[in-house]
Amino acid sequence: MATTSSKGTDGEHIEAAPVQRRGRFARHCRQRWWVWLAAFCLFVLVIMIIIVYAILPAVSQKELDKTHLTLHSLEIRDPTATSFSLSINSTISGASGIASHAKLDPMTVNFYLPDSEDAFMSLPLPGISGGGDIPIIVQDVHTEIADMKQFGGFAGLLLSSKELSFDIKGRTTIHVGKLHTKVNYNEVVELKGFNKLEGMEIQSYSIISNDSDANLGGKVFIPNPTVATIEMGNVHIALSLNGQALGFGVIPNLTISPGDRQYDFRANFTEAAMRSLIGVIVTGNAALNVVGNGTEVDGVDIPWLTAPLGALNVTVPIVTSS
Ligand SMILES: *[C@@H]1O[C@H](CO)[C@@H](O)[C@H](O)[C@H]1NC(C)=O
Ligand SMILES: *[C@@H]1O[C@H](CO)[C@@H](O)[C@H](O)[C@H]1NC(C)=O
Ligand SMILES: *[C@@H]1O[C@H](CO)[C@@H](O)[C@H](O)[C@H]1NC(C)=O
Ligand SMILES: *[C@@H]1O[C@H](CO)[C@@H](O)[C@H](O)[C@H]1NC(C)=O
Ligand SMILES: *[C@@H]1O[C@H](CO)[C@@H](O)[C@H](O)[C@H]1NC(C)=O
Ligand SMILES: *[C@@H]1O[C@H](CO)[C@@H](O)[C@H](O)[C@H]1NC(C)=O
Repeated sequence: MATTSSKGTDGEHIEAAPVQRRGRFARHCRQRWWVWLAAFCLFVLVIMIIIVYAILPAVSQKELDKTHLTLHSLEIRDPTATSFSLSINSTISGASGIASHAKLDPMTVNFYLPDSEDAFMSLPLPGISGGGDIPIIVQDVHTEIADMKQFGGFAGLLLSSKELSFDIKGRTTIHVGKLHTKVNYNEVVELKGFNKLEGMEIQSYSIISNDSDANLGGKVFIPNPTVATIEMGNVHIALSLNGQALGFGVIPNLTISPGDRQYDFRANFTEAAMRSLIGVIVTGNAALNVVGNGTEVDGVDIPWLTAPLGALNVTVPIVTSS
């Protein structure tokens, strides 16, 4: 019996133990609830820290990197030797996920030629709110040219290339609900260039006899396949025919706007040059070579346009016999 009772006791003991332990556990929990609360808070805090410091920046950056900037227009006006007035109409599209509900603080973006470390210009942008197609429009922003070599390089690429691209880089704060984090704003913007002013034509001309500054006037056609408007000032040109210099001309106060347009020009040729020009025109298919000979506004040279225009050598047919 002793054995049985002992077994029974054992059995009882075995059954009672978990109940007792569970009871102790429950009591422990009731007494130490604050420990569990603290552990839970710590857990939430760790998750928040992971979201705020690891996931949010990475996800925001990834979503922002997916966006694309389309340039509708780029206007460079009021050129001086060291500055100009800039207007841009563009759209940021492709914001998805959290980026479509996010807000970006105002930032200054820098513009770089591909593979260049030095910005050719910078531009303050207003704050941006997420959405489908977000318009980014700046109007008449006075822009000082910080790096003449870089900006001249950009103007040169814009005039000489069929297509070009530049990089935009900025750093700002993105707000997602109540959370925020620093992000880099990087875009590669692709655009058409002036393609060396190919397609330029003299579409009409007349001999001027009552003006001491010029003896030839007319209209020159300049196609502009780009979205860019550039006010160039008085563009001076050197004209030659089959390698023989004819003289100099000017396209006064040239603002080259998108699309195919005609602009007035005037030239002053020597009498001999005029005779050989008229001789060639009579035989048909005459084409002049036109090289930029400096551009100025009120006599002040615009070096960032003078240099790239001087590097162009455009063959300009005379397509009229009037
Ligand atoms: C910006 O460009 C878009 C698309 O070409 C045009 O609809 C809009 O009117 C332009 N906005 C301004 C302010 O020029
Ligand atoms: C020269 O004649 C043209 C046409 O008659 C006229 O439009 C122009 O103003 C004159 N220019 C000068 C400098 O007199
Ligand atoms: C125009 O050309 C003639 C002849 O080459 C020259 O005598 C005159 O000075 C030139 N005028 C200007 C304004 O350059
Ligand atoms: C422009 O090109 C033409 C034809 O290729 C050439 O004869 C002329 O010398 C060139 N002019 C300059 C300034 O390079
Ligand atoms: C040159 O053209 C621009 C734009 O068309 C105009 O605003 C400016 O007044 C003109 N300047 C002169 C000196 O004619
Ligand atoms: C303009 O042409 C003249 C004569 O060829 C030259 O001496 C001068 O350097 C040229 N200026 C520019 C800015 O191209």
